[in-house]
Amino acid sequence: MSGTDTLLAESIQAISAAEDERVLDYLRVQYLGKKGSFTELLKSLGNLPAAERPAAGQSINRAKKTLQNAIDKRRSELVIAALDDRLASEVLDVTLPGRRQGKGGLHPITITIERIKKIFASSGYVVAEGPEIEDEYHNFEALNIPAHHPARAMHDTFYVSPGTVLRTHTSPVQIHVMEKGEAPFRMICPGRVYRCDSDLTHSPMFHQVEGLLVDENVSMADLKGTVEEFLRAYFEAEMPIRFRPSYFPFTEPSAEVDMGCVHCGGKGCRICGYTGWLEVMGCGMVHPQVLTMAGVDNEVYCGFAFGMGVERLAMLRYGVSDLRLYFDNDLRFLRQFN
Ligand code: DAH
Repeated sequence: MSGTDTLLAESIQAISAAEDERVLDYLRVQYLGKKGSFTELLKSLGNLPAAERPAAGQSINRAKKTLQNAIDKRRSELVIAALDDRLASEVLDVTLPGRRQGKGGLHPITITIERIKKIFASSGYVVAEGPEIEDEYHNFEALNIPAHHPARAMHDTFYVSPGTVLRTHTSPVQIHVMEKGEAPFRMICPGRVYRCDSDLTHSPMFHQVEGLLVDENVSMADLKGTVEEFLRAYFEAEMPIRFRPSYFPFTEPSAEVDMGCVHCGGKGCRICGYTGWLEVMGCGMVHPQVLTMAGVDNEVYCGFAFGMGVERLAMLRYGVSDLRLYFDNDLRFLRQFN
């Protein structure tokens, strides 16, 4: 075999083994480039006897053409293979179902507030709102809680600046409503409240719903009937309800409301602390002093007020035992309320 044939055989083999276009190009330069093996071969023709040169030259040129064809063929193979690879990797299954929009739902606290609003709206209560950043006058003084009153200590107040607080309860909204309007009043106010307190059953921000009814000849019996009706509507159950005498500076007399434990039916369980009763709200007859400070004539009008914790009502209704679940935003918890 001549040198040309050997080189051709070797180069054809290398070309057909080239894995990509970059390698192929490198081989082309190696064999056919200006300093490539075949070019060198042509240059060496001068060493041959003159009679052999034309035949040898022709044979080298034929070999070069054969090699060029092999390179072109290999290149188109590689291009097609690369395209096939790309098509395979970018394949799109048009029969797959599309991504669906996740269905959102309301937070259980929102659901609870909406239910409470609906129940009171059906007895003619309007929904009021008040500021969450409140002055001390509305949060305390106007509710009969003067500066050194011991009740202030119970509120664990966040101060924004001297004289300004994050409201510790929704009761100041009673004052705003009475200051702005004309009696009679019949309102509820749901909203956020803040206390510097955080553990298993306390969160620094929580929700309350305040209620206020002011009219002529309002009695404790009206308060009792209202609260009882509300609790039965909210829990959709007939359960015993009791009023326990209590103390709030802004109501006189004051009471706390207990209802028969919805979990054990009054027998006593972990939820009710083995008492059979659950405390659900504070209430009372609006203190005449509070009416006067808010510009309501207490000779003509009297009224009742109540305040309840929304998280607590939601926990009791849904059987949730850890308050923090409401604020963790864990979808596995929240989805259960959709
Ligand atoms: N504001 C009270 C609290 O946060 C709750 C309360 C008790 C509100 C009695 C009232 C009421 O309107 O009459 O502890």
